[in-house]
Amino acid sequence: MSEMDTGFSIRKTTRDDLPTLLKIESEVSPFPWSARQFGESIDDHDGCVLLKGKRVIGYLFYQQVLDQAELLNIAVRPSFQGEGLGSLLLNMCMDTLRDTTVQLHLEVRASNFTAIGLYLRAGFKQIGQRRAYYRSEMGREDALLMAYNFLENGAVSV
Ligand SMILES: CC(C)(COP(=O)(O)OP(=O)(O)OC[C@H]1O[C@@H](n2cnc3c(N)ncnc32)[C@H](O)[C@@H]1OP(=O)(O)O)[C@@H](O)C(=O)NCCC(=O)NCCS
Repeated sequence: MSEMDTGFSIRKTTRDDLPTLLKIESEVSPFPWSARQFGESIDDHDGCVLLKGKRVIGYLFYQQVLDQAELLNIAVRPSFQGEGLGSLLLNMCMDTLRDTTVQLHLEVRASNFTAIGLYLRAGFKQIGQRRAYYRSEMGREDALLMAYNFLENGAVSV
């Protein structure tokens, strides 16, 4: 576990986190990940939880294949949002990938302005759009495809 001066720390996700992750996910997402999706991501992909003391207040999952990585999910507990913790989680993930990865890409709902703001602030660019990709409360909505290029942003060549 890595400790920070602020009382926040980060560690890898475990199966024991599952109930807490499901609870947070149900509070932040209109179409939450299922227990199965979290379980598979904990077992097969890279994930970390952000702790305040011993309390889990956020999580992030990504998948790396060779020199490409995909951000699968990121969330911060509602009462802790807007304090820079989403950026903290994302930047820690990007630091982990920086030396081995050319591109980190993701898909985000076109209506998710908070997440899009988070990604733009971190240096992601929109590289595409998938029409009517997601189910939504209004029917369907587009996915924006976004990517962060580590080589363009000063990483060592992999
Ligand atoms: C997306 C999410 C993780 C951001 O976490 P957060 O801790 O609130 O984010 P931060 O406080 O670090 O904010 C980082 C940037 O996000 C953007 N942002 C944050 N809150 C915002 C808001 N209410 N409206 C617009 N942009 C916002 C801003 O660009 C902000 O940078 P700034 O503070 O310099 O303006 C959080 O809102 C969340 O859990 N959302 C629900 C889950 C989700 O949608 N995940 C993304 C799936 S693709």
